[in-house]
Amino acid sequence: LLQQFDLHSVIDSTNAEALRQAEAGTGAGYVCSAEQQTAGRGRRGRQWVSPFARNLYLSLLWEFEGGAAALEGLSLAVGVAVTQALEDCGLEAAQLKWPNDILHDDAKLGGVLLEMSGDAAGPCAVVLGVGINVAMPASAAGGIDQQWTDLTTANNGVSPGRNRVMAALLNHLLPMVAQFETTGFVPWREAWMQRDAFADSPVILSSGDQRQAGTARGVNERGALQLETSLGVQSIYGGEISMRPA
Ligand code: BTN
Repeated sequence: LLQQFDLHSVIDSTNAEALRQAEAGTGAGYVCSAEQQTAGRGRRGRQWVSPFARNLYLSLLWEFEGGAAALEGLSLAVGVAVTQALEDCGLEAAQLKWPNDILHDDAKLGGVLLEMSGDAAGPCAVVLGVGINVAMPASAAGGIDQQWTDLTTANNGVSPGRNRVMAALLNHLLPMVAQFETTGFVPWREAWMQRDAFADSPVILSSGDQRQAGTARGVNERGALQLETSLGVQSIYGGEISMRPA
């Protein structure tokens, strides 16, 4: 499943590099990692704080036949793969926040950013980017605009080691993407729900100027958040939506 692994010292963004590789004809199974990112990208146009030799920055390139529609729930399945990898490294109680934040003790431990290249209707190349805070130096953390944590803190002061986390991550990510195209999100739904940090909690969803309050009731088989309001249960599909506790 793993075709090529490039480890860079410093790069702009491993996602940007994997997208460049896709444009240049590199195929599925290409992995790019780096010690440092100078322009690490987060969701919704944010930066991803990426200091040297402290954390994990990794992007996997994969190809999907079915176009964008075949990718529903993929970012949630990546979140499941990340938490399973962390569990293999001895970290209990990592949780998921819809659509795909990795949390520990209500603070952000890692994130997932999917980017696509190619035709949304035909076969497309997808870059699955994963960032995990392993030993975030306080000097770098000033740039983070939300509650954050790292694996060292979450693991009682002991880092499981970046190499071990990287290996565990690839062990889960590669078989997951290989299976996803045939099955979609369904086989990961149960595992996602078990790690859902907001199960049955009051939440507020925001998208631009719009706000919607309700109770989070997990996700459906397509990875859509199930938001219960006085009108009933609505399915909310990803995109630029963010969620916070009410
Ligand atoms: C988020 O906002 O939660 C998503 C963060 C994703 C960060 C990772 S680090 C490796 C890859 N390269 C990037 O530039 N971003 C992703």
